[in-house]
Amino acid sequence: MSDKKQKSSTGEEGMNDDLMVEVHSRLAREKHEPTKGFLIAPLIFVFVFGCLIFVCSIQLAHSTNSFQLHPPQEVVELTEEEKEAVRFERKMQSGKKTFALRCASCHQTNGLGIENQYPPLAGSEWVTANPELITKIILKGLKGEILVKGEKYGTSAAVNMVAVDINDREIANVSTYVRNAWGNEASELTEDQVSKIRDSIADMQDQWTGEELQSEYLSNL
Ligand code: HEC
Repeated sequence: MSDKKQKSSTGEEGMNDDLMVEVHSRLAREKHEPTKGFLIAPLIFVFVFGCLIFVCSIQLAHSTNSFQLHPPQEVVELTEEEKEAVRFERKMQSGKKTFALRCASCHQTNGLGIENQYPPLAGSEWVTANPELITKIILKGLKGEILVKGEKYGTSAAVNMVAVDINDREIANVSTYVRNAWGNEASELTEDQVSKIRDSIADMQDQWTGEELQSEYLSNL
């Protein structure tokens, strides 16, 4: 190594190899020492934050009922009677919906029908008679003269009721509704009963006539 070169790189003249090695190792120590401490610091932070998150999650889990947004409502034990009342109310509500969709256009939402055209269901003898009667009417329809609450209906052939195409459950629910709405009071119908009645008249093509049903179920009218 020439003197000139040593001068330009170290700024000192006549530096020998040993000295250079020493200077370098000193520099190396001094440069790296501070980073040693800095390397440990983030690890401690990670650890501390980890612990914090862990503790917070436990706290959250306890205070939010296992992270559920909507904690379960208190279970209310219903008596058999109350359960029965709830079941019946559901059936009535379901029947009411079917009624609004499939019957109210003629018999009206209030069940009063339209004078000289559509007979009333509120207070009708037909509705609260043997439950087979209303089921049969829904299944096959009805035409011809009938007497409801002392008034004649079905006197014009143009005004008649065609079969309402709904399933056994819907018939059971809507019949139960009609038989217990607007002050009517009569037994409820089950899907099973309706299914048996449907099977028993499966071959029938035409609508019922007022005459045949009235003499079978309402001979006192
Ligand atoms: C398109 C109009 C129309 C629809 C819809 C209709 N009905 Fe009728 N319903 C009539 C007519 C008209 C009569 C009378 C038929 C006759 O005089 O022969 C009648 C008669 C009845 C009767 C016997 C008479 C009475 O007033 O009690 C019952 C019960 C009855 N309907 C129930 C229902 C039910 C339940 C529904 C729905 C599932 C329904 N009807 C849908 C027109 C309708």
